[in-house]
Amino acid sequence: MFKINENYQKLPGSYLFSTIAKKVAAFSEANPGKEIIRLGIGDVTQPLAPAIIEAMHKAVEEMGNADTFRGYAPDLGYGFLREAIVEHDYKPRGCNISADEVFVSDGAKSDSANIQEIFSAGNRIAVCDPVYPVYVDSNVMAGRAGVYHGESGTWSNVVYMPCTMENGFVPEFPKEVPDMIYLCLPNNPTGTTITKSQLQEWVDYANRVGAVIIYDGAYEAYISEEDVAHSIYECEGAKECAIELKSYSKNAGFTGVRLGYTIVPKELKCGEVSLNQMWARRHGTKFNGAPYIVQRAGEATYSPEGKAQLEGQVAYYMKNASAIKNGLQSAGYTVFGGVNAPYIWLKTPDNMTSWEFFDFLLERANVVGTPGSGFGPSGEGYFRLTAFGSYENTLTALGRIKGL
Ligand code: MLT
Repeated sequence: MFKINENYQKLPGSYLFSTIAKKVAAFSEANPGKEIIRLGIGDVTQPLAPAIIEAMHKAVEEMGNADTFRGYAPDLGYGFLREAIVEHDYKPRGCNISADEVFVSDGAKSDSANIQEIFSAGNRIAVCDPVYPVYVDSNVMAGRAGVYHGESGTWSNVVYMPCTMENGFVPEFPKEVPDMIYLCLPNNPTGTTITKSQLQEWVDYANRVGAVIIYDGAYEAYISEEDVAHSIYECEGAKECAIELKSYSKNAGFTGVRLGYTIVPKELKCGEVSLNQMWARRHGTKFNGAPYIVQRAGEATYSPEGKAQLEGQVAYYMKNASAIKNGLQSAGYTVFGGVNAPYIWLKTPDNMTSWEFFDFLLERANVVGTPGSGFGPSGEGYFRLTAFGSYENTLTALGRIKGL
């Protein structure tokens, strides 16, 4: 008789955004006339930029021609994209990353869930609380999280680093020393970030205690302040302790296109074992490469036209972020984020729980957001709104919230 991976049975409920989607679908069915505005999941709404569409069209033509047709992509990514990443994302920031440290993938969500596979099941992970749920859930599936305590909403073998308004959303070094530290900066869900010197302290800490940092930089394009690092490799010693995950979803609108990459530096070793080689082995076995058309689209994000068009998109979403932030503040809400990230993190009014405010907003304003408690126990009493809607919908939603 076969047996299942029982770790899956430990997962409480469904994936956060699936739960929200089901709730919204039920509300919509029961209230067919209501026009719902979705500021929940961080999904983009602007169409792909013209430079990207042009590159995709060209690649499609190539695929239809026997002379230029491509079959399986190289499992670690095409050279043209890996080189472009090094040239544009790392060299200008003084980061010494080479193309063979770049692993092209179908997005940072998969990479952030899969990367734990190359680490021991006995490792202890540390996460910010609140946290992007994939980091914890993927470690639960791998049997690394221990036992779930329903009352506290925590896992026995996970080290939580609370990020709340009391500590300015800056994680503190945990009392128990972890083996793997997940950092997402600028942060999803709080929309806040830390300075480059604060990040350097994390790199120093990881090197001191022998931990690895899994650094999710999916929101890097939204950084507007000077003293914030765009890559963890801007910090000294990071190549010895950090893996960086990057996505094209938020900076280039690829949520439906799917493309990302992971940097595993050659200096990152466990004893004599190279994690770069381990990840290459894993990628080669389990992944057949992102599609050629999509990798050409990724390359186009680095052309002068592509860059200018994407800067325009980021500015568009950040205009939404400012409108939400300022609008809610003027309505008396306590609001965070929205300066270096497209997320607004607010305190729920009248001591409502996060899910109470979710229901209140859905029923009374027909606006969907994300309950803070869905990201972890320290998210209770907070609520996330995304700036990825259209400007018109954002203003309409804001007007409805202010009118409550
Ligand atoms: C979010 O809303 O937190 C993100 O869009 C989820 C993701 O990027 O997978």
